[in-house]
Amino acid sequence: MHDSRETTGPCAFVTGFPVKHSRSPLIHGYWLKTLDLAGSYVRHQVAPAAFAAFVSELKEGTTPFCGGNVTIPHKEAAYGLADRPDPVSEELGAANTLWFDEGRLHATNTDGIGFAANLDERAPGWDGHDRAVILGAGGASRAVIQAVRDRGFREIHVVNRTKERARELADRFGRSVHAHPLGALSEVMGGAGLFVNTTSLGMDGGEAPSITFDRLAPEATVTDIVYVPLKTPFLDQAEKEGFRTVDGLGMLLHQAAPGFERWFGRRPTVDETLRQMVIDDMEAHP
Ligand code: ATR
Repeated sequence: MHDSRETTGPCAFVTGFPVKHSRSPLIHGYWLKTLDLAGSYVRHQVAPAAFAAFVSELKEGTTPFCGGNVTIPHKEAAYGLADRPDPVSEELGAANTLWFDEGRLHATNTDGIGFAANLDERAPGWDGHDRAVILGAGGASRAVIQAVRDRGFREIHVVNRTKERARELADRFGRSVHAHPLGALSEVMGGAGLFVNTTSLGMDGGEAPSITFDRLAPEATVTDIVYVPLKTPFLDQAEKEGFRTVDGLGMLLHQAAPGFERWFGRRPTVDETLRQMVIDDMEAHP
């Protein structure tokens, strides 16, 4: 039987290049179904050269879309082309969520919200420290630095292979953020209450340097934004040393919630069934 929910109600997209591996349709589809809402959420691949034209059509109302998610490599362009980027996306220079309000295309970035919500859920009290260490200074690191700073960490040490990139982020995010080369990792970990890996090290079974976490504060939380595999080499090591660890899958799930609420009008919840569904999908389609 035809399901009318698939063809009626608001339609949101996820765009990227490529976009076929995105698990966002699975997440939003689950929420539409469990909340019994009319609406749809689809993959919409757009090549970089065509992205500006796509946003123009979106603003003109000649697409079926009420808004959507934006992923690599369009996040910076999405921020630049929106009518009303919010202060969060403005500081990052990148947006992952677009929606309309009073005819204007608004943009925000929910990666930091997703990062913090994941830790709030799985490691309550994670933010009760002054000092954090963030490994990596790429695109994904920015939202993490912003979130950690906004949750009150007063000393944020960004450690990166290319120190210059860490320096740029320290300049961007203010006086609490300090840049270091990889060689300083052990030293800056002393007494830190949070360690975050934002690099691709250990992703998809790749190599990761062995890090000892024993200089962290005893009640520190160690987290990785990589979620394939769920237990990355960094998390495995930290767990063996007795630290509280949080995998990165919850960040993906939680970053999706604010967009869903804007497009479809209801705040969804991240539950165990959703998490398991995404884990099953990762195993079926690695
Ligand atoms: P993303 O947007 O996903 O963060 P990115 O911008 O390519 O991706 O950044 C990847 C991060 O992983 C960077 O911090 C990168 O370090 P450099 O800035 O020195 O390139 C880090 N990274 C990737 N491979 C690495 C490796 N083999 N050793 C150390 N750091 C690595």
